[in-house]
Amino acid sequence: MPAIAPEISNVIFEDHQPTVGDVRADLLDGLQREQKQINPKYFYDARGSVLFEQITQLDEYYLTRAERSILVNHANEIARCCGAHCVLIEPGSGSSEKVRLLLDAVRPAAYVPLDISAEFLYASAHKLGGEFPWLQVHSICADFSEPWQERTKLPSGRRVVFYPGSTIGNMEPDAAREFLVGLRRWIGADGGLLVGVDLHKSAHLLHAAYNDAKGVTAEFNHNILTTVNSLTGANFKHSGFFHRAFYNRQHRRIEMHLVSKEAQTVEINGRVIEFRAGESLHTENSYKYSVEAFRALVGSAGFTLEQSWFDEAGLFSFHYMTVSRD
Ligand code: TRP
Repeated sequence: MPAIAPEISNVIFEDHQPTVGDVRADLLDGLQREQKQINPKYFYDARGSVLFEQITQLDEYYLTRAERSILVNHANEIARCCGAHCVLIEPGSGSSEKVRLLLDAVRPAAYVPLDISAEFLYASAHKLGGEFPWLQVHSICADFSEPWQERTKLPSGRRVVFYPGSTIGNMEPDAAREFLVGLRRWIGADGGLLVGVDLHKSAHLLHAAYNDAKGVTAEFNHNILTTVNSLTGANFKHSGFFHRAFYNRQHRRIEMHLVSKEAQTVEINGRVIEFRAGESLHTENSYKYSVEAFRALVGSAGFTLEQSWFDEAGLFSFHYMTVSRD
């Protein structure tokens, strides 16, 4: 892939060739714990991405609609927070769908989508560049946790990170804090951060959002087994597990599990993993925050919450924060 696409002059594609790491060792480590687990990053193969797209359109899954309505209704205020000619950076940009709702209002000097999937990023960046001919798209294929940042020269301008979708809620609070601290160093003392976060609410609504009637979330959850099988040659059977998602009130998080229907063994990389009947495999957490709890989290990472917006039903929140002064 060329470093600079000749056909669209407003799009740059920079490939830092993120390493995949030792997938087998990573998966085995999770499967040998007391509470078996699979890292949720394995959800997003091609099929997983299609299924997730379907989740966002489900009646019960209010998150995406609520966040979109916030971005549409408050685009001008959000743009004011960004200021003129910012460099808008989106880690894990995927299809760059949501940022489209802000671009005309924000008019950034450059948009920097970052993703680990080279082909997907290349295609999305060029599609976006074609739709917004005035926009400089500086796409970067990299793993956020690797030290490629020093080698990259971004366009100059105030750096603002856009992190929608309550993806921050899929991290353990400690990991979220570390992620925010990393961002703070990267954006500099004058940088800003725009983050979408799902709110703590009645367990009933939350339960429905992750247990949809059509079973798409269940299929999404099961699909992780297909990914694991194809990455490692393991022999997980879909039909051997059922989807379980519930709200853990104490930790204020939705937990997703795959529960073994019966006693069974799965072979992965020459190792035999035993499941008891009813034993669960933990696939994901989705933490829910109150504004106060979120303020405390970002505060502990050195950010000050400046402004918050909500959808009309008060289900979802979107925040602007700046780096705290010492
Ligand atoms: N961050 C979103 C959420 O927690 C999206 C998401 C991540 C999700 N993993 C998921 C949605 C699994 C449904 C199932 O809701």
